[in-house]
Amino acid sequence: MRNRIEVMHGVNLDQLGRRDPAYYGTLTLSELERGISDDAGVLGLVTRFFHTNHEGEFVEHLHRLEGLADGIVLNAGAWTHYSYAIRDALELTGLPAVEVHLSDVEAREDWRRQSVIRELCVERVAGKGASGYREALERLRLELAA
Ligand code: DQA
Repeated sequence: MRNRIEVMHGVNLDQLGRRDPAYYGTLTLSELERGISDDAGVLGLVTRFFHTNHEGEFVEHLHRLEGLADGIVLNAGAWTHYSYAIRDALELTGLPAVEVHLSDVEAREDWRRQSVIRELCVERVAGKGASGYREALERLRLELAA
């Protein structure tokens, strides 16, 4: 059964709880992760969590996923908009991935509209706050069942 989901958060997402609540809500990263883990359990998925503020560590974590995960939910934060290194590493995993953003990146600054990982992901969920992760898990569950 393919049900192992790696949930990866990138740069500055450990600062949730003190970032602008109008964009990011009030949950801390640990609280957000707890909710994701609970939702995943209901869906029959098993989650593992990873966060780093260091791009190379994010890349190396992707390198290490072979055999350990069946799908990826990732919010790469600002790296989403420009990190071709993360894009290449994500491609290397060969795993189905869903890109998540708490805020509506399409409705903010122009530079946030660019995503260098979008075309590698089976879906992008943005602007739905914490519930966007549930949507991402549901999408991956469908993908893994196919
Ligand atoms: C974000 C959106 C990014 O533009 C921003 O740099 C973040 C968080 C989001 O979850 O809305 O750090 O990915």
